[in-house]
Amino acid sequence: MMKTTLRTRRSTQDILPAINERFSPRAFSDREVTDEELDLLFEAARWAPSSMNEQPWRFLVVRKGGEGHGALLSCLSPKNASWADKAPVLIVNMVMRDLSRNGQPNHHARHDLGLALGQFTAQATELGMGLHLLGGFNAEATRQAFQIPETLDIVCVTVLGFPGDPDQLPEDLRARELVRSARKPLSELVHKGRFHG
Ligand SMILES: Cc1cc2nc3c(=O)[nH]c(=O)nc-3n(C[C@H](O)[C@H](O)[C@H](O)COP(=O)(O)O)c2cc1C
Repeated sequence: MMKTTLRTRRSTQDILPAINERFSPRAFSDREVTDEELDLLFEAARWAPSSMNEQPWRFLVVRKGGEGHGALLSCLSPKNASWADKAPVLIVNMVMRDLSRNGQPNHHARHDLGLALGQFTAQATELGMGLHLLGGFNAEATRQAFQIPETLDIVCVTVLGFPGDPDQLPEDLRARELVRSARKPLSELVHKGRFHG
């Protein structure tokens, strides 16, 4: 178990603030995300690189109190749903499975979605928003609830809003909200010149 530090980190190096200030919140404020703000995040995602410029990413957006919100919430794991219901926006992140040019499987589709989500996330952080990605949801139930065709893979869910007061959370989640997760050292991740085990 890696150690976490209390609201300090992130990197001590001079990396971009939109990278360094990001964390995955569970407490969200009542502040709305406007259509303009949301469009700007998708615009940032749109300019990500992708294999053969296929742009396989697709997004399904629901808003708190709007069409589909209850349906998507009920597809999240109960633990995730217990805090995600406060956030103003939920997004299902998907990819087109096959290449449009020849119908063959696109083995880079999920990779490319990750790049697009990275840009989405950096833009959101720059605007003071917080977002939390989720793998803890039922993809098949989501497919059925929204009639999502089999040509799309359903990859993860984004919980989006503005970070809120940690005191609104139950004690176990509040404690987690107050720490920032650690990272492995570069020496474990980066191999220079030759691969060392
Ligand atoms: C694809 C993906 C799936 C995740 N699934 C969940 C989840 O189901 N529930 C949750 O609370 N956090 C989830 N997380 C958040 C990670 O636990 C979090 O990013 C990681 O612990 C690092 O913390 P940080 O984002 O605050 O730096 C997920 C993150 C990613 C990228």
